[in-house]
Amino acid sequence: MAHLFKRNVLLGVTGGIAAYKSAELIRQLQLLGANVRVIMTHGAREFITPLTLQALSGNPVHTELLDEQAEQGMGHIELARWADLLLIAPATADLLARLATGRADDLLTTTALATAAPLLVAPAMNQQMWRDQATTDNIATLATRGVHLVGPAAGEQACGDVGPGRMEEPTIIAAAAAGLFQSGLLAGKRVVITAGPTREAMDPVRYISNHSSGKMGYALAQAAVDAGASTTLVSGPVNVPVPDGVHKVSVESAEQMLDQCQALLGECDIFIACAAVADYRPASIEQHKIKKGAEQLTLELVRNPDIVAAVANSAQAPFTVGFAAETNDVLSYARDKMQRKGLDMIVANDVSDQNIGFNSDQNAVTVMWSDGEQALPCASKNSIATQIVALIAQNKP
Ligand code: PMT
Repeated sequence: MAHLFKRNVLLGVTGGIAAYKSAELIRQLQLLGANVRVIMTHGAREFITPLTLQALSGNPVHTELLDEQAEQGMGHIELARWADLLLIAPATADLLARLATGRADDLLTTTALATAAPLLVAPAMNQQMWRDQATTDNIATLATRGVHLVGPAAGEQACGDVGPGRMEEPTIIAAAAAGLFQSGLLAGKRVVITAGPTREAMDPVRYISNHSSGKMGYALAQAAVDAGASTTLVSGPVNVPVPDGVHKVSVESAEQMLDQCQALLGECDIFIACAAVADYRPASIEQHKIKKGAEQLTLELVRNPDIVAAVANSAQAPFTVGFAAETNDVLSYARDKMQRKGLDMIVANDVSDQNIGFNSDQNAVTVMWSDGEQALPCASKNSIATQIVALIAQNKP
C-alpha cells in the first residue's frame, strides 16, 4: 500500500467551506506516516481556526509572508525546502488563478513558487465556477507545469447546486499524495545502498569515525523502495528508522561493509555508495583500553579498502553510483573521482556548507555522469533522493 512514511507534507489551506475537511485530511496524512505543517490563507481562517490545525498537526500554523518571527525560523524559503510535497486542499478558484499566473502575493503562493517539491491541488468551488472557461484554462496551464490534480468530486454542494466542484474526500486526497511517490521507475531492480559512517576501532572502547547521520542514505533507500526496487541498506551505526520494505544489514567497520557489499553483489543491479567510509583505520586494535600516560600518543593508520571502487571494478559490476564529499573545487574533484573509481555516476556534495551535507535534513548536490550533469538545488534529503533515483533510472542502460 502507498504510504507517506517520514515524508514532509506542507498542507496549504485556502478559503472555502471545504476548509473544515482539512482537519480530517491532516489525520489521514499522518496515518500514512507523514509529518504535516500547515499554511493558511486569510480566507481559510474565516472558515477554521489556526489553533485547530496547529493542535492536529502538532506544529505551529504559518499564515503571514512578512512575519518577523517566521522569517527567523520557518519562513517561506525554509518551508519550501522542508516540503517533500506541497498539497493545497481545498484549492479555491482564486488560488488556482494566482498559481497559474505565478503570483507571489501571500505566504502560500510564494512558497509554491519557491519549492522544488511536487505540487498537488484539490480544487473546491461552486460547480459553475469550476466549469468556467477561466478555471478550465488555469487548470490546463497548471497541468502543463506538472501540477497534479485530485478531484474535484461531483454531487450536492454546500450552496445547494449539484455538479462537479466538491473537494475530494480526505482519504482519497491522502492516497493521491502517497501515490505521487510510488513512481515504479525501478520496478524489478535490486538496489544496494551503503549509508552512515564506519567506526574503526582503536581499542575495546574507542574508535575513529565521522559525522555522517545516515539521513541521506536512508532517504535514498526510501526513494528506491518508492520506485519499486527491492532495496538493501548496508549501514554503519546510525539512529535513523529503517524505511518500510527495506532490508537492513548492520556493520561497523569499512572492512565489514566491504564484506557485506561483496556478498550482495550477485543480487544487485544498482549500487549506491552514500556511506562516509573511513579512509584509514588503526593498524592494530589494542586488546585492552589504551591507558593515559605519555604526553603524546602516535596512532599508526593503514588504508581501508575502497568499497565503491571494488564494486565498480568487480566481474559482476552493477550500475555503480558514488558520492563525492568535497569542500573545494567540488565539481572537478567529483568528476575526477568518478573516472578514477570507474563509476557510472557520481553525486557531488559540497560539505563545506554546514546547512547541507553531513547531519543536516537538507542537501544540494550535482549529479554527474559520463556525458552530462544536473544540479539539484537545496531541498529536503527525501526530495534530493527522489530526484537522484529518477536520474539513475534515466541513465541506467
Ligand atoms: O549521512 P548524512 O549525515 O545524511 O550525510 C550525507 C553525506 C554527506 C555523508 C553524503 O551525502 C556523502 O557525501 N557521502 C559520501 C561521503 C564520502 O565518504 O565521500 P568521499 O568523497 O570520501 O568518498 C567517495 C566515494 O567513495 C563515496 O561514494 C564513498 O562512499 C566511497 N568510499 C570512500 C572510501 C572508502 N574506503 N570506500 C568507499 O566506498
